[in-house]
Amino acid sequence: MKKHIVIGVSGGIAAYKALDIVSGLRKRDIGINVILTKNACEFVTPLSFQTLSNNYVVTDTFQEPKAWEVEHISLAKKASLILIAPATANVIGKVANGIADDMLTTTIMAARCPIVFAPAMNTNMYNNPIVQENIQFLRSKGYYFIEPESGWLACGDLGKGKLPKPEVIIEEVLKHMNQNQDLEGKNILVTAGPTVEAIDPMRYITNHSSGKMGYAIAQQAAVRGASVKLISGPTHLQCPPYVEKIGIQSAVDMQQAVNANFQWADIIIKAAAVADYRPIEESKHKIKKANQDITLTLTRNPDILQELGRKKANKILVGFAAETKDLISYAKEKIMKKNLDFIVANNINEKGAGFKEDTNVVSIIDKEGNINHYPMMSKVELANIILDKIKDRSAIMNSFR
Ligand code: CTP
Repeated sequence: MKKHIVIGVSGGIAAYKALDIVSGLRKRDIGINVILTKNACEFVTPLSFQTLSNNYVVTDTFQEPKAWEVEHISLAKKASLILIAPATANVIGKVANGIADDMLTTTIMAARCPIVFAPAMNTNMYNNPIVQENIQFLRSKGYYFIEPESGWLACGDLGKGKLPKPEVIIEEVLKHMNQNQDLEGKNILVTAGPTVEAIDPMRYITNHSSGKMGYAIAQQAAVRGASVKLISGPTHLQCPPYVEKIGIQSAVDMQQAVNANFQWADIIIKAAAVADYRPIEESKHKIKKANQDITLTLTRNPDILQELGRKKANKILVGFAAETKDLISYAKEKIMKKNLDFIVANNINEKGAGFKEDTNVVSIIDKEGNINHYPMMSKVELANIILDKIKDRSAIMNSFR
C-alpha cells in the first residue's frame, strides 16, 4: 500500500520551507495531505501546497466546522505518519495539554501513527521552560521531535530554533516511516503491573509497580504494527489503543492468562512485578484482631517466566530484573535460570529508575553475555529500544519475513 503522510504547517516564518519538504517527499512517491493552521495561511498560501502535493489542502479558514469534524478522522486513519513542520510553541503546547480545537490538533489527537514535530521558533521561546517541559512531556508519551538547528534566526537573534534543512527533515521522516509497522505480523504478549495476593476479603499483599514500563511496550508494539495482548495487574493506566487487555489480580491468575496465550505469542515480554509469595490460605472472612501477635504464612507462587523458559522453543522471551544491589550478576543469573533471550535490568533505587517514574535507567544483557548500559530515558524510548532488540534477534532467528 502506498505510504501517506499528513504534513501540518503551523504559523511561523519557516512555513515556506514546508513547500520543499512536500515536494521532496512527493518525489519519493509518498502521498501527501497538507493541513495549514489559520496562522500558517498568513505566511503561505494553500494554493502552493495544493500544487506541490497534487492534493487538496485543508485549512480552517474557509471550511465549515462540520467538514473538518469528519475530515480529521479520515486523515488520521489514512496517515502512516504525521509531520508538523514548522511546529510552533503554540501547537506543541496545545497537543501537550490535550487541546484539539482546529483541523491540525484534532487530526493529531485522533491518530495512532507516529507523530513527528519539527519545532521552529525564536530561541528564547524554544528555551522557555514551559516549552521545554511540553516537549519532554510529549516525548515521554511517544511523540518524536526533530531538534531545531542553531544559527541566525529571522528575528535577528542568534541561537537554537531554526527549522533544519528540508533534506534533514525528509531523512528523519523516512527513518520513522521505515520503522513504522516493522512488527506487523508478530503476536506480542506483554505482562505489566503488580500482582495482588489476597489475605482476606479486605487485605492483600502487593508491590509498588505502576505498570508504566509494560504499558509503554504494549503501546509502542501496537504502533509498530504488532498484535498485542497485555496481561495486567491492577494499575491506574488506560489500556493503549489497539491493545487487547486481560486484567488479572494474582500471580496464579497471571500464570493462567499467560499459559492460555502461550501458543498465540511469538514474543513474550514479562515486565510485570510478580509477587514471589502469597498467603498460604485466603481467609474467607475478615480476620478479626486479637490481643496476641499473628503470623502470616506465605507460600511460593509459580515462577511464570521460568516455566515459559522451559517450553519456549523458538519464541523470544524477554525478562526484567528489578534489583537494589549486584544488578548485573543477579540479572545474568536470571537469564540462565529462566532461559531468556535477554533481560532488562534496573536498580530501582537509582535516580530516574523505579516503578512510579516516567523514566528508567537500565542495562540490557543478552544470553550471549553482551551488556549495554543506557542513560536515563523515557519509558517510551526504552520500549522502542527493547522492540528494536527483539526485531534484530528475530531477524537472526530468521523468523522475520
Ligand atoms: N517473574 C515471574 N514470576 C515470578 C517472579 C518473577 O514471571 N513469580 C518474572 C518477572 O516478570 C520478571 C523476571 O521474572 O520478568 C524477574 O523478576 P524479579 O522479581 O526481578 O526476580 P525473581 O525471579 O522474582 O527473583 P528475586 O525476587 O529473587 O530477585
